[in-house]
Amino acid sequence: MMKPVAPRQYPKPPEGTWTEHYPELGTAPVSYESSISPEFYELEREAIFKRAWLNVGRVEQLRRNGSYYTKELAVAKTSLIIVRGMDGEIRAFHNVCRHRGNRLAWNDDPRVESKGGCRQFSCKYHGWKYDLDGKLSSILQEGEFFGIDKANYGLVPVHCEVWQGFIFINLAKEPEQSLREFLGPMITAIDYPFHNVTERFYYRGDIRSNWKVFLDAFQEFYHPPILHGRQNPVMSNPEYQRMGFYTMHFQIDGPHRVGCTSGGAGGLLPPEALNPIEGVFRSGLFGPWDHADLGIEGSPPGLNPGKKKHWGLDSFQIFPNFAIVFWETGWYLTYHYWPLAHNRLLFEATLYFVPARNVRERLAHELAATTIKEYALQDCGTLEATQMGLESRVVTRFPLGDQELMCRHLNYVVNKWVDDYRRKHVER
Ligand code: FES
Ligand SMILES: [Fe+2]
Repeated sequence: MMKPVAPRQYPKPPEGTWTEHYPELGTAPVSYESSISPEFYELEREAIFKRAWLNVGRVEQLRRNGSYYTKELAVAKTSLIIVRGMDGEIRAFHNVCRHRGNRLAWNDDPRVESKGGCRQFSCKYHGWKYDLDGKLSSILQEGEFFGIDKANYGLVPVHCEVWQGFIFINLAKEPEQSLREFLGPMITAIDYPFHNVTERFYYRGDIRSNWKVFLDAFQEFYHPPILHGRQNPVMSNPEYQRMGFYTMHFQIDGPHRVGCTSGGAGGLLPPEALNPIEGVFRSGLFGPWDHADLGIEGSPPGLNPGKKKHWGLDSFQIFPNFAIVFWETGWYLTYHYWPLAHNRLLFEATLYFVPARNVRERLAHELAATTIKEYALQDCGTLEATQMGLESRVVTRFPLGDQELMCRHLNYVVNKWVDDYRRKHVER
């Protein structure tokens, strides 16, 4: 039998609610029309995804000069090549040959992302060759091209900047802000030893829901005790369900936001209340129980911005579709939500650990990765059902609680960016 859990006191903001600290958000029920309208999705592509800085990976994916990978960006109807040149610089280009438009880098199937290493890109169609800095270096039978100047036919570049090892691109002709300006003070305050946390687990899913509907489930802790209640004895504990898994600090900075929690069930319940395998592997949904050595003195700057005593994790939501979750025990994960259509997304989850030094640590990492995947699968099914419910348009306004502040903020920012764009470009 499970022992009862002592009720916890969760801190509230000094006055009122969290939401009321951000009056621009209001407290009224919100519309999810932006998640079910194909027309709104077309606007989002231009207003958001071709204007914001988007994270497309990490520097560890380009270990050597000449390493590259491609990134499909259906939301912008393009594919990118991200490459580390022979000079060590990381650059991004549209994955399109300048001769007759063939996709340049791909392996067996042009729709599937690829990666590798090379000294030049060579088009599979007529063999035009490009240096890794994008310059066109060779044209087959160049003499027949009417005095063509190769300097005018380099790969089409994409703005590319790196912050803390995260590679971002911007599809605008001229980005309105540098990457650092866009990320703003709350995000750029983070100084984490990412280079020491490089053991990587990755999975992806193709899901039938709007990208925001899906993202919303990963930015509130109101649902886990219910939706995931039957999967984990901790979460199905009635006392835990009553208490919830609270966000104890919220912070908003421009289009970005963070929610911090106590980190969950680790020490909350006696060992007999956990799944037995969790006790054996000393790991589970909240990651390995034992602290990893991050290789730095003290805790990384920028984390736990509310300076909470029982801090367990920060969920940083970087607009529009990228999240980094830092855990107190010394690991992190990222989520990406790539729209494929107004009612479909590609979801990517990547977990990063300090490389395991022994089998026990490796098993703890593996268990965390598989457990998190199981939970995400449960979210997937439900969020496809949510999309169906929204699309019926039977209900058009939805009340959000104080713990759903981050969902309210995303909804607000998306509408704001689209309204700005409409004002400037559509209704002139
Ligand atoms: S399309 Fe690439 S060389 Fe012709
Ligand atoms: Fe969930």
